[in-house]
Amino acid sequence: MRLEGKVSIVTGAGQTPGQTIGNGRATSLLLAREGSKVLLVDRDVERARETREMIEKEGGEAAEVAADVTAGDECKAMVDACVSRWGRVDVLVNNVGIAGVADAGPIDIPEEEWRRILDTNLTSMLLTCKHVLPVMRAQGSGSIVNVSSMASVLSTPVLAYKVSKAGVNALTQNVAAGNAKYGVRCNAVLPGLMNTPMAIDAWAERASIPREEAVRRRDAVVPMGKMGTAWDVAYAVLYLASDESGFVTGALLPVDGGQAVGP
Ligand SMILES: NC(=O)c1ccc[n+]([C@@H]2O[C@H](COP(=O)([O-])OP(=O)(O)OC[C@H]3O[C@@H](n4cnc5c(N)ncnc54)[C@H](O)[C@@H]3O)[C@@H](O)[C@H]2O)c1
Repeated sequence: MRLEGKVSIVTGAGQTPGQTIGNGRATSLLLAREGSKVLLVDRDVERARETREMIEKEGGEAAEVAADVTAGDECKAMVDACVSRWGRVDVLVNNVGIAGVADAGPIDIPEEEWRRILDTNLTSMLLTCKHVLPVMRAQGSGSIVNVSSMASVLSTPVLAYKVSKAGVNALTQNVAAGNAKYGVRCNAVLPGLMNTPMAIDAWAERASIPREEAVRRRDAVVPMGKMGTAWDVAYAVLYLASDESGFVTGALLPVDGGQAVGP
């Protein structure tokens, strides 16, 4: 019960359909197992409802809310819903993030694709922080965990995704620096190659390759020989969300099986 008595918000708490579990869903389940009440936010509220049912089956407490986190008023409504239901917000996990089908280099990327990815992956996190920080400052405590990506620091052809996640790292450090004196921490988790539906099922379908082939190709570039799972991300988020990391703020934590340090 590492989060006993805490209240958390997880954005993107549903998941892309597929064979494995997604980061937002695994994180929501783990936070609930460790004693937190969890507000499950997703623009596709049916997906968040499925997560709530899984949590309730295990004896945890959760509620779902529909919100598009690219809209400031919906982020405010999400925070208000949490406060009116449970009286506080101890943890915010900014998990929403997308990879764009048309993401490419500067010449080829369509302007609207660039804006969609930057809005969804980066502006959304600014907007949720904007509305949760006054609550956390007033409490004198809080932990924000942003789900970034190793793509923010490694070489990759997907420009908008990379830039959006590099922005998430910078936002994390800014929020950490500006809110330490209020007892509010902000850290980021940088997943490497994970075996989640967002990464595998969607890509296999797009590239018209069998799912097993997509898994094999990605496993081959991980120094530990195999992709991570959403549980690896969830356990890193749990540490940063809990009081165990009480003196840690502004950290960018790779969860990548050694990819950052090479083969
Ligand atoms: N899987 C990987 O290999 C990998 C690697 C690095 C980083 N990440 C990051 O992990 C995070 C997501 O992981 P996941 O497995 O939970 O993804 P997912 O696609 O399974 O789930 C994300 C959920 O977010 C919701 N969503 C999308 N846009 C939204 C919006 N504007 N407002 C509200 N909800 C929205 C979707 O409906 C979906 O249910 C992203 O930030 C992604 O960039 C993943």
